[in-house]
Order: sequence, then structure tokens, then C-alpha cells
Amino acid sequence: LSEQEKSALDAYEWSSKLFHHVLRYTAEGKNGLNYLQNRGFKQDDIEQFQLGYSPNKDQFLSTFLHKKGFQLANLMDVGLLSSRDGNTFFDRFKGRVIFPIQNHQGKVVGFGGRAIEDGVEPKYLNSPDSKLFQKGKLLYNFYEARKHFQKEKEVVLFEGYADVIKASQAGIYNAVATLGTSLTKYQASLLKRYVNRVVVCFDGDKAGKDASDRAAQMLTDVGLDVLIANVPYQLDPDDFIDTYGPEKFQNQVLRNAESYVAFAINYLKKDYNLQSKHDQLDYIEKALDLIATVDHAVERDVYIKELVETFDLYRETLENEIADRRRIKQ
Ligand code: UTP
Ligand code: MN
Ligand code: MN
Ligand code: MN
Ligand code: MN
Repeated sequence: LSEQEKSALDAYEWSSKLFHHVLRYTAEGKNGLNYLQNRGFKQDDIEQFQLGYSPNKDQFLSTFLHKKGFQLANLMDVGLLSSRDGNTFFDRFKGRVIFPIQNHQGKVVGFGGRAIEDGVEPKYLNSPDSKLFQKGKLLYNFYEARKHFQKEKEVVLFEGYADVIKASQAGIYNAVATLGTSLTKYQASLLKRYVNRVVVCFDGDKAGKDASDRAAQMLTDVGLDVLIANVPYQLDPDDFIDTYGPEKFQNQVLRNAESYVAFAINYLKKDYNLQSKHDQLDYIEKALDLIATVDHAVERDVYIKELVETFDLYRETLENEIADRRRIKQ
């Protein structure tokens, strides 16, 4: 690391501590604390994830960092401060709740800053990519989650910071999230080094389903077993835990996660008009391709049965088709 990068790391560490202190102990942090409490975040969550608040003032952080002797101009590239004239420096995260993002060595290298009022754009302001902070290579909470990978050889992958934190209320500590981007090949390979299985637990909306499909393919491609949790439509894991509690999240959402193939067989349907015979045939071909990738005979049987019943087909025909596909594969 260059001197400039080392200093930026230092500045993030100080800023993170300052914002956490403000949130926990000061009048300036009251709005942030109320916001988090109203959303069901607990004292423990605030400690564990070192959440903070950047006061709604133009130069709260910049004054602090200046007094600490930092070269403020160096802190623009890493997104802590902004400036119009290169002389006067303003707090970039002002008025936002701070989710510190650690790199895989446990150092704070970026912030996700959540607006505390509705309608503020962007909802989350994130640190920009820099040499220290690359969104495609890091995963939120990876440093902590890694300590829990050993036991289960499994990770739960979420979309949002809030989901990871609420999951910890359900005793789920092997949880990570992407940083507001789609899952990358790099992140998939990283997880493959530590676990055998990934439970994808994205939001219950269409965007979440689409992203689940993309992530699951990526994870399958690097050789991971993938399960997909079924979060009810219009909720995300964080809302679900607020509404129904941590136990139901464990028992109804995570425990009922289905294999990627089971998910995909259904998800695929959106690309076809199943009223048309022609589309039906195309869909069935695709579904057979998927089923043929399953190594467990009983699991294959479950899916075959579903196709047989849905489309009124002969079981034997489907079994032969799948056997052909599996022979070619070998
Ligand atoms: P969501 O819109 O699902 O947000 O985006 P969320 O995590 O449920 O947020 P809350 O619960 O309303 O606070 C998922 C993730 O996408 C990124 C963030 O990382 C967020 O956690 N995101 C979202 C951004 O980076 N910027 C945005 O404006 C919105
Ligand atoms: Mn503390
Ligand atoms: Mn979403
Ligand atoms: Mn969400
Ligand atoms: Mn949410």
C-alpha cells in the first residue's frame, strides 16, 4: 500500500469509530438511533456490526479528520469527503446511518450510508471503488462469517446489509451480502474455498428472483451446491424477520430452501407461454436438461413426476430422455 492508501485506511478506521460513538452516546446521533430502533435493530446489532451515524452537518467529519492531521484532499478518492473547489471539504455521508464494510482482513475500507428519510436518493450511498475497496471482490460480513464456515461448510448469501444483521438475530452468523452489485465470479470462487453449500436468500420480488437465478448459476459453475430460499413476495429477509420473527425465518424460509434445479424448473416458466403446445415442448426440453444434471435418482424422480402430472406425459418417455442426456454427459 502507498502512504496515501495507508492514510485512507486510517481515516476510515477513525471515521467508523467516530460515527459509532456519535450514534451510541451523543445528541447528534439521536435521529440515527431512533431510525435503527424503529426498524428493529438491537443494541447488540449496533455493537456487533459497529453501526454509526454521520451527523447532518457539512463539516463534522472533515473538521475531526483535519484536527487529527489527515490530508483531506486524499480522502476524496476514497469517498469520505467531497469538495467543489479542492480547498474546502464536506462530509459525504452526512445525515446517514453508517454500515462499515470490512475487508477480508477485518479493516474498515468502505461505508454503506443509509438515508434515514423516505424518498432520499440514493437510498444507500456507498464508498466508490478504489484500490482499497472493490465491490466485486469483497462481501459484506465475510471477515466475521468466515469464523463460522468451518462448522457447517455453508454460507447464507443475502442482498442487503440489513438482511445480514437481522439474520444474526436468528442466530445465523455464516451470512454475507453482496455490496449492491450482482455476485461476481470472483466472489463465487472465494466462497468455494471455504464452504460446500450456499443458501441464496434474496428479496422476494422479481429483481430478487432474477438475481437468485444468476447467482445460483455462477455458484453452480464453480462447483458449489446451491439452495434457494423462498422469501415471500414483497418482503425481504429483513422485513420477514421484523414481521414474523427469527424462529419463523429459520423454520419457514431457510429450512424450506429448495435445490437450484427445483427453483429453476419453476422459474424457467416465465420465458414460455405454456398455453401453446410449441412453447410447452421447448419448456419440457429445457426442464429435462436441468433434471439430467441432478445426480440423485430420487430427486430426479420428484421432478419427473411433476412434469408427468403437469403436462400429462408418459413417465417412461421422460426417463429415457433423461437417461440419454446423462449418458452424453459422461
Ligand atoms: P435493497 O433495496 O433490497 O435494500 O438493496 P435493503 O438492503 O433491503 O435496504 P433497507 O432494508 O431498505 O435498508 C439491497 C442492497 O443493494 C444495495 C445495498 O447494498 C443494499 O443493501 N443498494 C441498494 C445500494 O447500494 N444503493 C441503493 O440505493 C439501494
Ligand atoms: Mn461500541
Ligand atoms: Mn431489493
Ligand atoms: Mn432488500
Ligand atoms: Mn430491507
